[in-house]
Parts: sequence; structure tokens; C-alpha cells
Amino acid sequence: MDKLIVHGGSTLKGSVNISGSKNASLPILAASLLTDQDCIIRRVPDVSDTNYMIQILSALGADVERSSGTVRISCKEVADTAPYELVRRMRASICVMGPLLARLGRAVVSLPGGCVIGDRPVDLHLRGMEALGAKIEIEGGNITLTAKKGLKGANINLSGSHGPTVLGTDNVMMAATLAKGTTVIEGAAAEPEVVDLADFLNAMGAKIEGAGTRRITIEGVSSLHGVEHTVIPDRIEAGTFMAAAALAGDHVVLRRVCREHLAAITAAIEASGHKVEFNKTGTQCTIIRGNKLKGVDLETAPYPGYPTDMQAQMTALLATTPGISVIKDTIFPQRFMHCAELKRMGADIKIDHGTAVVRGVKRLTAAPVMASDLRASAALVLAGLTAKGSTTISRLYHIDRGYEHIDEKLLTLGAEVERVKE
Ligand code: EPZ
Repeated sequence: MDKLIVHGGSTLKGSVNISGSKNASLPILAASLLTDQDCIIRRVPDVSDTNYMIQILSALGADVERSSGTVRISCKEVADTAPYELVRRMRASICVMGPLLARLGRAVVSLPGGCVIGDRPVDLHLRGMEALGAKIEIEGGNITLTAKKGLKGANINLSGSHGPTVLGTDNVMMAATLAKGTTVIEGAAAEPEVVDLADFLNAMGAKIEGAGTRRITIEGVSSLHGVEHTVIPDRIEAGTFMAAAALAGDHVVLRRVCREHLAAITAAIEASGHKVEFNKTGTQCTIIRGNKLKGVDLETAPYPGYPTDMQAQMTALLATTPGISVIKDTIFPQRFMHCAELKRMGADIKIDHGTAVVRGVKRLTAAPVMASDLRASAALVLAGLTAKGSTTISRLYHIDRGYEHIDEKLLTLGAEVERVKE
């Protein structure tokens, strides 16, 4: 188990490349199960979550080769049961459910366990599969879905009490590609990662329209073919480095970004007094630290709203921004594990029913802190960049789940960080 030591006080300078998107790669890797032909996927980030998905695909019988960011997958023959030992490590494994059911008429996937960021049921996924004609049995912690005569197109509403579901939309969209007839998903998630998956499926020969809106139409086809695809940039990694540059940078440049996907994050960082300048094509941005800073009110929401996956990092930025900020997480109301650790570093934060009230302090002080989940660990790294002294962040495996070589990237920007064994 590694830990990261962050020596506070360095100014970040220079430029860094943003990696391919983890949250686009995971469902796209799973979608390769829909065909027996080769799929080549580029810019898949080297993070533990994509490694887990590749292990699950191999365990299902896929032949997988990986060289740097390119993954070649061949699913000539696949099994219908995803092994619990692998699935329990990553919730996103649920994404193999739709492709296996559509291709084989049967899928066995374990019910996801608990999650520190909050309650994460899969009832909407199952609502969609049932509407497509699957019979569902839940026993011994496993979900068994069968559709002996194949799936049948249907009208499905996928919005839940906390809004649309991203992976639920992905799962039902993948299943519907091989269903007989037309499926209409209302209340669909519109995240860029959903659009990237739809682009991948359409390139395989699927007939999907409306991805990126709340209404997606899928006309079923009899089979899908192999494809080559390059994954979109990771907007959450980009947002994390934008917050780091606003906190401790001097004209830091991020390359390989997408301006459109970063609109809500850019607006929040600019509202707190910093400036983000994009080049003509919107594929590169420079973050200019402001000197008239102020607190902001922030509410997370489904895309194009402010992403919950950038809530913790923004809380870390606002912890040393003068004034009062009010941060409400409407998607995961309990997602404030990072706040207790930030308070150990001297932050002034009060949590109440899904809302954090942050009173900006002059400077944080280093302390040993513990990562609890992927984005919380990123927030602790950001806090350490400007804290007085050296912050030690343990359970670093959380950050390696979704950030490709974050310590090396920070070192290239001039941060003083060290990865050491626990
Ligand atoms: C995706 O998770 C992301 N993961 C999460 O990012 C992200 O936080 C989340 O979307 C929201 O943006 C990946 O893409 C791999 P949801 P997902 O289903 O699809 C409720 C990260 O840090 N819900 O959109 O699992 C649910 O409880 C990760 O990279 C139901 O009620 O999230 C939540 O309140 C963490 N029933 C809301 O919907 C369901 O069947 C949104 O969850 C499904 C979800």
C-alpha cells in the first residue's frame, strides 16, 4: 500500500496532458462483449479501474492485449457469469450486464455491495432490463437475468429520485442495440461519457439517436461488428488539475481537454475569482490564478450541471478561498468524507443534510490524512499543495483507481510530492 507525501508551498508551472476518460473507457470496454469481432480502443487510461474491467473481460473468455493506452479485445466466445471476486472490486462491472444479456440471452452479475459515497442501488438498471423482456432473479447476492427468446424493444423511463443514472443508461442502451424493434429511453443521462459510448456502438453498426439528450432512441439490429475508437479526454481529471492550478499554479496549461465538457467546472472556478483561457479549438486551457477571490454557492447536478465527481476538489479549493461557500451535493448527499480530513488540516466546514458550509481560512496546516474514495483523495492532494508543512495521504490506492500517474504529472508541474510504501 502506497502513501503520498505532499510538501506544501510550491508553485505549479508548465503544462500537462490530460488522459483519456476513465468513465467513458469502462462501459466502452464492456461494450466489446456485444460482438465476436476485434475492437481496438485507444487512449484507455492506465488506472486500476480499467485494469479491473480488463480482468473481468478476460475472465469471461475475452482475448485482451494492451500496449500503453491501446487495448485490443476479441470476444469470440464469452461466458455469461462475471466472477464475484472481480466484480466486488468495482461497481462499474455492472456494465457487463446489458452486453451479456443482449448477446447470450443470459447474464449473471453480483449485486454491488456498499459504497462510501452513498446509497447506490441498481433498481433503475433492472427496471430497464425487465422492460426489455428479461426475467430477473436475485439470490445469494447474484442477479440472474434471462431472455431465452432475446430482448424486445420498449419505452423505458430511467429517471430516479436523484435524477438520471449514467451507468443505467449505458447498460440499457447497450442491451437495446440487439433487441427486436425500437427502444426509447426517457429520463436518460446526457453525460459526455454516454455520448462517447453511443458513438462507439454506432460505429459498431448500432442505430442510436439522441445520445446527449434526455431521450435516446435505439433501433435494434441483428448483429454488431468490430471497430476502432479513441476515448474522449477525462473531464474530471482536467477539472482536478484546473482546481490545483487555481490553488497553487502560475499559468498552468492543460492539453488534450474539451472546452464544452468543462463548461460547468470552468464557470465555478471563474466564479471564485480565477480565469480559465481556452485556445481557439478549445482543446487546451491556461489557468490564471485570481487575486480577488470570493466564496461561491455550488449545487451538483446531472450533466450539463456541475459534476458531483468535482465536488470534493472544489471544496478543497474553497477551504482557503476568502468568504463563505455553500456546497450542496444533490446526487450523493452523503459524499462529504473528505471534509473530516480537511478539518484535520484546519479547514472550517459544517455539514448538514447534504450541504457543506465552508468558511475560507487563510492557510491549511499539514497533517496525516486518510483517503476514503477516489475524488476525496484528489481533494486531499489539492489541500496538501498549499498547506503549511508536509501532508501524508494514506490509502493511495483510491487515487490510483482513476488518476493516471498523478504524482508524476504533479512533479512535471513542479509540485513536491513523493510516493512511498506504507
Ligand atoms: C457514474 O456512476 C460515475 N461512474 C460516477 O463517478 C459518478 O459519480 C456518477 O455516475 C454520477 O455522475 C462511472 O461512470 C464509472 P448514477 P453511476 O447511476 O452510473 C441513483 C467517479 O468518481 N441511482 O448516475 O453508478 C444513485 O444512487 C465515480 O469516477 C438509483 O437510485 O451513478 C445516485 O444517487 C464515482 N438507482 C444517482 O442515481 C439506480 O439504479 C446517480 O447515480 C442507479 C442510480
